Amino acid sequence: MTNSKCGPIGIFDSGYGGLTILKEIRRRLPDYDYIYLGDNARAPYGTRSFDIVYRFTLESVKYLFSKGCRLVILACNTASAKALRTIQQHDLPEIDPSRRVLGVIRPTVERLGNYTRTGHIGVFGTPGTIQSESYDMEIAKLYPGFRTIGHACPMWVPLIENGEAGSEGADFFVRQEIFRLLAKDPEIDTIILGCTHYPLLYEKIRRFVPEHISLLTQGEIVASSLADYLARHKPLDAKLSKTEPGGSCTYLTTENSMKFSTMASLFLGAAIDAATIEL
Ligand code: DGL
Repeated sequence: MTNSKCGPIGIFDSGYGGLTILKEIRRRLPDYDYIYLGDNARAPYGTRSFDIVYRFTLESVKYLFSKGCRLVILACNTASAKALRTIQQHDLPEIDPSRRVLGVIRPTVERLGNYTRTGHIGVFGTPGTIQSESYDMEIAKLYPGFRTIGHACPMWVPLIENGEAGSEGADFFVRQEIFRLLAKDPEIDTIILGCTHYPLLYEKIRRFVPEHISLLTQGEIVASSLADYLARHKPLDAKLSKTEPGGSCTYLTTENSMKFSTMASLFLGAAIDAATIEL
């Protein structure tokens, strides 16, 4: 792979969830060029095994590299939990050590100190993210005294991917999981929405979570962490292409492009045009 050209920032998710991260990143870093890739044809990832999530994620990262991305953000907790470390340690040195792949879990955990007083942290995530215990491990590293209470919400992503986030039926599943999490530890005062799809259920979740509990979504957190990262990594930043003013974004999906464009436009609040690709 050639090292000389500038390229866009790749943003990857299993489906629509990463759009919640992309939106905030573009707000924070507007002049950069982006490629968003949603592997909608194979979503959800949250119930898939470690090996499969790793393989699908690596395929997507390689695809984004082939389109010139020098930096790829895994805007997906499941991929960050199950694939990021192996890609960083095993694959990148072989593919191209100058390229970077970053995730969403570490930056989220870094923020916790600003919110919690009890140190009891609830984490909602996909079954894959919760079973991986990635949040438990990251939190234990940065805040050894904290307690992490993970809770998997297997129904939430399918509701969102199927356009049911706003429906009354979704209320049942949202309330049920909140009740189950809080029953595990009444001292929880901060909950991480540890899946990039969940901001699409934010209004509902906020309605059913007691007011004294902080609810953390990841868009703004990941965006400011990325801005900080680029300020500290000037040579990489210099290899990221920009189109001023306002940057550009190409939307790619492994599913039907019309379907993706319609759903994505709803999430982003602006019309977009996606293209279908094969991995
Ligand atoms: N949006 C993803 C996450 O943050 C994955 C959802 C899924 O595909 O299950 O975990």
